[in-house]
Amino acid sequence: MTQLIAVLPGDGIGPEIIEQAVRVLTALGESFTIEQQPVGGAAYDAAGHPLPPATLDLARKADAVLFGSVGDWKYDKLERALRPEQAILGLRKQLGLFANLRPAILYPELANASSLKPEVVSGLDILIIRELTGDIYFGQPRGIRTAPDGVFAGAREGFDTMRYAEPEIRRIAKIGFETARKRRGKLCSVDKSNVLETSQLWKDVVTDVAKEYPDVELSHMYVDNAAMQLVRAPKQFDVIVTGNMFGDILSDQASMLTGSIGMLPSASLDESGKGLYEPSHGSAPDIAGKGIANPLATILSAAMMLRYSLDKPAQADRVEAAVKSVLAQGLRTADIYEEGTTKVGTTAMGDAVIKAMG
Ligand code: NAD
Ligand code: IPM
Ligand code: MN
Repeated sequence: MTQLIAVLPGDGIGPEIIEQAVRVLTALGESFTIEQQPVGGAAYDAAGHPLPPATLDLARKADAVLFGSVGDWKYDKLERALRPEQAILGLRKQLGLFANLRPAILYPELANASSLKPEVVSGLDILIIRELTGDIYFGQPRGIRTAPDGVFAGAREGFDTMRYAEPEIRRIAKIGFETARKRRGKLCSVDKSNVLETSQLWKDVVTDVAKEYPDVELSHMYVDNAAMQLVRAPKQFDVIVTGNMFGDILSDQASMLTGSIGMLPSASLDESGKGLYEPSHGSAPDIAGKGIANPLATILSAAMMLRYSLDKPAQADRVEAAVKSVLAQGLRTADIYEEGTTKVGTTAMGDAVIKAMG
């Protein structure tokens, strides 16, 4: 049986970067079946919903999902349930993709593209594990209402609920420890337990799970300090495990250590290892349609897909080696360009990766 890959390009630069990743996958010479469906704003325009049944069905039956990005300012006035972002949130929730792996690796060639000094980031290789189906993102109740009490009683107020259940923390903590064990054996759990009950439970449960992993060195850090440490001395980290909201913010921050958010891939996995793969960045409406977006985060996400869901580690290595090679050749999209390198567009970058795969 050939493996089925669901391709969901989405909005903005999504279709441009996905096209390159699909070309790379096709060039591998494997007998994948690739099926495509619209998602996000594109699906709203075509079918009246950001995550139509045909798109969700394809994602469910596929062996892996390759996702571009969703969102555009022009949909911001829609009611929340119809906004493009609901597509990716719905896919994560409905497919049970609770474990989001966001590796931030500095390729030596990009040491000057980072906004930090080369010596601070050289050799950087950290992995942020973000819990992806809980927290304030999904907690009920939420809404906008008339404040029932307090100093601002009677005024309009917005409210969301931050929640984490113990088993939910336990399973992501286990992923954190298992992953750290296979790397440099260090896990940093990031929370805000000095203020939040959710975080207190988080910290207690992670500490309890640690008893099963005496070989892993566990530390705890408050999220505000973690944000500071990530730019002060990012190499102190190996694996970071944190909740949905903190992980969203810290992973964007970590991306800049690597030169550009256009370099940061991600894998979102369920209990069985089935996954959705997407760049960590968004649909970049400011540069959409210009042919200048960096496709490498998406190509590297496809490599993660080959490794984690399609059992093709040698092909994953091949793609990652090709990315290293094009960077060594001095090819750069605008976001990572510096003097002395060659500026290329999205398609030319895809071409170069395919050529480098041999
Ligand atoms: P963004 O990540 O889309 O863009 C932030 C900045 O990074 C922009 O200047 C953009 O041009 C640049 N950038 C992003 N990806 C790039 C790439 N591959 N190459 C070169 N430059 C790149 O974040 P935003 O502007 O805050 O959000 C835009 C839209 O994307 C919003 O609708 C948001 O909700 C959505 N979004 C979607 C996802 C997703 O689909 N998973 C993730 C983040 C944001
Ligand atoms: C991401 C994005 C999403 C998130 C949005 C688009 C819902 O920022 O994948 O990081 O907040 O998770
Ligand atoms: Mn984000």
